[in-house]
Formats: sequence, structure tokens, C-alpha cells
Amino acid sequence: MNPPLTIAIDGPAAAGKGTLAKRVAERYRLPYLDTGLIYRAVGRQIANAGADPDDADAAGMFARQLDVSHLDDPTLRGHEAGELASRVAVHGPVREALVAFQRGFAARPEGAVLDGRDIGTVICPEARVKIFVTASAEVRARRRTDELLAHGRDDVDYERILAEVRARDERDSGRDVAPLRPAEDAHLLDTSQLDIDGAFRAACEVVDRALAAL
Ligand code: DC
Repeated sequence: MNPPLTIAIDGPAAAGKGTLAKRVAERYRLPYLDTGLIYRAVGRQIANAGADPDDADAAGMFARQLDVSHLDDPTLRGHEAGELASRVAVHGPVREALVAFQRGFAARPEGAVLDGRDIGTVICPEARVKIFVTASAEVRARRRTDELLAHGRDDVDYERILAEVRARDERDSGRDVAPLRPAEDAHLLDTSQLDIDGAFRAACEVVDRALAAL
């Protein structure tokens, strides 16, 4: 039997990781986990309970009790849940509580695709394929602005979104525990000049090379 094909896709907010990871998972018929959703779910549950997302111990308790059966809740994908997620994700107790679930998902015999910030560095350091997706902050803010406009939002301000993208980068990369950074053996995929089809083709080339090296 072939060894499991575990694919780690990391990168900053709004780099297009999610869309890319979903397509890669479909192409190679692998289960897919968007790990951002579990941090979002923790943030949302804390906010719903009126607790403080910046309190590491309280946030850790929510993370340990997380019910992962509602990760398909569409409100988790919103901006507010993303901000809460980024705040709770700085706490060591939160990250520790979520490791087992992510590693359990990654340990399927056929493999899996996981996307996040620390998959290649912390969760699956042995992943067969690691891709670090980037794009300039300006390109990511432009894409997010266009996405919101396409959804009919009329309160969209590019400059504000750019400031938010930069603030999120700083929090995700500057934290002490499992900061956002490429693993040493990750393939860097800069999508600043690529559309989603181009990014998908580039990612498949990386995966196919890994498969051919078996
Ligand atoms: O990928 P996303 O935008 O849904 O992630 C939301 C936040 O969750 C992100 O700003 C940081 C945190 N996160 C993390 O720290 N580690 C992960 N593996 C995934 C997300």
C-alpha cells in the first residue's frame, strides 16, 4: 500500500488557501480539513458565552470542550469569527487542545489535506507535501474587497480591509506559539500574479512530483 498522502497548505489570511486546498483535495480524492474553522468555532463559542477571548485559560477551557460537529455553520466564515479566531489562536492552551483533533484527522490511511497556519511546522511536520501560499497584502486585500463587492456589500472600503489584512498578518506571525511561517521544506507558492486555476496547476505540479518520487 502507498504511504498516506498528507498535504499541508499554510499561509496568511485571504491568500486563497481554502479554495486551493479544497480543489487539491478533490483532485487527489482526499478528505479536507479547514483548520481555521476550529479556531473560529472556539472564538465564536467564547463570544456567545460572554467570556473574554484574550483570557488564555478561559479560552483554553472552551477549546478543550469544543464540539466539532458544527463546523459547517456558515457564520463561522464571516469576518467577525475570523478576528475572534486570530485572537484565541495566540494562546498556548487553545492550540494544545486542538492538536489531537487535527492530527487524528491527518492520520487517515489514505492521507488528508489540511490548511491553516502551522500545519507544516507543528501539526504535520512529516507531511509528504507542504505548500506555503502567499500573496502580497495589497493583492489579498484587493481580492477580499472584490469578493465582498460581488456579494452585494456596499460598505466595502479597500484601505480598511488592507489595514485589517496587515493587522491579522502581524498577529498570526508575531505570536509566540506556533507563529505563521513556512516550514523549511515547504514549497512557496506566490499567487500574487496567479488566478485560482494557475495556483491549482502549480500546486498539482508539486504534489505530482512528490508522488513520482515514491
Ligand atoms: O484561515 P482562517 O482565516 O480561517 O483562520 C482564522 C484565524 O485562525 C487565523 O487568523 C489564525 C488562526 N489559525 C491558526 O492560528 N492556526 C491554524 N492552523 C488555522 C487558523
